[in-house]
Amino acid sequence: MHKNKPHTNLDSKLDAVTKSLKNSVKNRDSYTHVRGESLYVDDVNIRQGTFHAVVYDSPKAHGKIISIDYSKAEALEGVERIFTYKDIPGVNEIGGIIADEPLFAENEVHFWGMPIALIVAETEFIARQARQLIAIEIEELPVITTAKEAKAKGSFINAPRSFSLGDTEKTFANCEYVFEGETFSNGQEHLYIETQGAYAEPLENGNIKITSSTQGPTAVQATTARVLGIAMHKIEIDVTRLGGGFGGKEDQATPWAVMAALATYHLNQSVKLVLNRHDDLRMTGKRHPYESSYKIGLSKDLKILAYQAEFLQNSGAAADLSPAIAERTLFHATNSYYVPNVSTTVLSCKTNLPPNTAFRGFGGPQGMFVIESAIAKAAHEIGVSSKTIQEANLLDENDMFSYGQIAKQVEAKNSWNSAKSVFNSDALELEVADFNKLNSDFKKGIAFMPITFGISFTNTPMNHARALVHIYLDGSVGISTAAVEMGQGVNTKMMQIAADIFSVPIEKIKIETTNTTRVANTSPSAASSTADLNGKATQMACNALVERLKIVASEALDVSEIDITLQDEFIYVNHKKSDLSWTELISKAMLKRVALTENAHYATPEIHFDKTKEKGHPFAYHVYGTAIITTTVDCTRGTYEFDSVKMVHDYGKSMSEGIDLGQVEGALIQGIGWMTMEEIAYNEDGKLLSNALSTYKIPDLFSVPKIVETIPLETEGHEQAILKSKAVGEPPLMYGIGAYFALQNAIKAFNPNYNLKFHAPMTPEKVLMSLYQK
Ligand code: MTE
Ligand code: HPA
Ligand code: MOS
Repeated sequence: MHKNKPHTNLDSKLDAVTKSLKNSVKNRDSYTHVRGESLYVDDVNIRQGTFHAVVYDSPKAHGKIISIDYSKAEALEGVERIFTYKDIPGVNEIGGIIADEPLFAENEVHFWGMPIALIVAETEFIARQARQLIAIEIEELPVITTAKEAKAKGSFINAPRSFSLGDTEKTFANCEYVFEGETFSNGQEHLYIETQGAYAEPLENGNIKITSSTQGPTAVQATTARVLGIAMHKIEIDVTRLGGGFGGKEDQATPWAVMAALATYHLNQSVKLVLNRHDDLRMTGKRHPYESSYKIGLSKDLKILAYQAEFLQNSGAAADLSPAIAERTLFHATNSYYVPNVSTTVLSCKTNLPPNTAFRGFGGPQGMFVIESAIAKAAHEIGVSSKTIQEANLLDENDMFSYGQIAKQVEAKNSWNSAKSVFNSDALELEVADFNKLNSDFKKGIAFMPITFGISFTNTPMNHARALVHIYLDGSVGISTAAVEMGQGVNTKMMQIAADIFSVPIEKIKIETTNTTRVANTSPSAASSTADLNGKATQMACNALVERLKIVASEALDVSEIDITLQDEFIYVNHKKSDLSWTELISKAMLKRVALTENAHYATPEIHFDKTKEKGHPFAYHVYGTAIITTTVDCTRGTYEFDSVKMVHDYGKSMSEGIDLGQVEGALIQGIGWMTMEEIAYNEDGKLLSNALSTYKIPDLFSVPKIVETIPLETEGHEQAILKSKAVGEPPLMYGIGAYFALQNAIKAFNPNYNLKFHAPMTPEKVLMSLYQK
């Protein structure tokens, strides 16, 4: 699918912007993945006598609990106990940002799938059978499923947030063109392959160890301690790896771990709770659906002079991470464009859906879809292509974002122009136009999608990490950090860093599990910042060890420290190999009683943000890129294929090109899925209809683009990126937004009466209806 070199005759230009996969280190996890040896929560060797738990959840989206009868369930042979809010020794509250979310419902239920009780039994099968025997009586209350309805009823999570730059009102009055409209983007199911789960085991003295599939071990630890009413040091969280998180386990891995721990606390026995797919789909939150409205004003020469937007975020029944996600929507509301007058507002609307949560892009994609829609609308009305408006407004060096940060090392135009030349976009556009002239039953569409994504947790205090590095006396190395491996390859990157600094083979480096007793008070692995934050901490710890070891070496070899380097497991003096090997050096250090352990703390410098003014410099840097997407629509059926996606992506100086390419391709496909085929559906009672893989379609091998080409943009990278290798986890998801507009352009080519709608996902049904709209 991927080609390192595009088919183009512009080889000289190409060389300027490309490099081969020279730094390709295989993801170390691939060895155990392909053998089926990788360990997940469900693979933990459980202790004898372990109990198994199943969650009893609300069968209604909103109502008062009149009565619950557990007696038949409790009487079932093999059922140990059923826990409810009454069994909570601490507080029944798990909200991460706002204290508005009970672990178990008390007197009311707020969403379909809301946990009410935990059934603990000898086997999971028995617990499931018992669940069928619980009888509940609920007095139903009105159900809100959409953000608009919530807004109309004044149902909000918190106060609205607004960013503003310049004066939009005044500017609109002086614009040549002003357009307004509405957009909708639906939610998205994370569909991590490994469902949510945890295994809790009692240690001595009332201590509990939890093996959790979480992106945020400290959140799990802190929340468990709070709910159990005990100190954090009594709770140990251990994470080996996740079978995918995608944001869905940043906050929402917590309740299951807390429940398992609660049962362990009472029973003094191990308890395993792993959700099956149906339970996971029903009980967990997803990407936030957004209903938005925009107003865009342009000058005669198509400069966007003013942009105004109101984002209605469907937050679900509790805050979860919604306020932070809402904030990122504002940060990315103008995508890759410079707009001098901006006024954006986001409202986190409280509905009766499961609390929606982090999902790759964290609100950014939702914001970017709206401005891309506004541009498409303006282009359509003015009679130009979106590309013309996009190109006329790309960010430049020293442009100011609406939140006050000055854009530096901007690659928006560079990536755009590179994409145009490397992929010969003029020819591509001609091909599309020619095809459309010759064909009436099939139409092609093309769209450009530039992206600009800020790297750092938007909440400045979260931007820190630690690393604990041990060199063992045989010269092998063990590293603990806060990084959680979830498929993104962060462990391999950590190994590369240490192997490089110590100059030992990667086999000598082991990345330990992520454990709160070794690295405490961590931020979740999220915001695409895991490798930057934990990598920098690892670098600091390794460098400190090397400095210490150089002293030992200089004494042993009787030379000056500054002449010493480490190379290929030997000590070099003035770049000449000495007889002293790495392993011997470690032995000598041991004999000299030199510490072979180091702990380092890294906190991103320079970033700051003032929420009272909504201004600051929240991001360490931005990641840029441009994608060109082409599609062919079958105008008889409404079905479509993506012919190609061609991207120029700003990796900075990629430290692991194979891993980074995997991130770009995976994110792209996830973005295309969100925009085109993944359709979350709740009925008006708040019941999830798309509750299985038969009713919720995600991209498969047949729906991925025929050609996916990624060209690395040769850029300087950034000092705050690990080894100048820019964060890559989330940004490329937003290339997928182009898929929506490529489809829309194909529809436009077929149906001159098509009235542009911005309602994602653009499913084949919607395509078909648009093709024949009168
Ligand atoms: N890639 C895989 N394979 N699995 C995942 O769960 N999560 C994404 C992205 N890439 C994810 C992934 C999300 S939402 C984020 S924030 C980043 O990885 C987190 O890892 P990073 O900070 O190391 O990029
Ligand atoms: N990204 C992901 N998670 C977060 C962020 C963010 O920007 N801010 C707070 N939690
Ligand atoms: Mo990613 S949404 O920040 O876990």
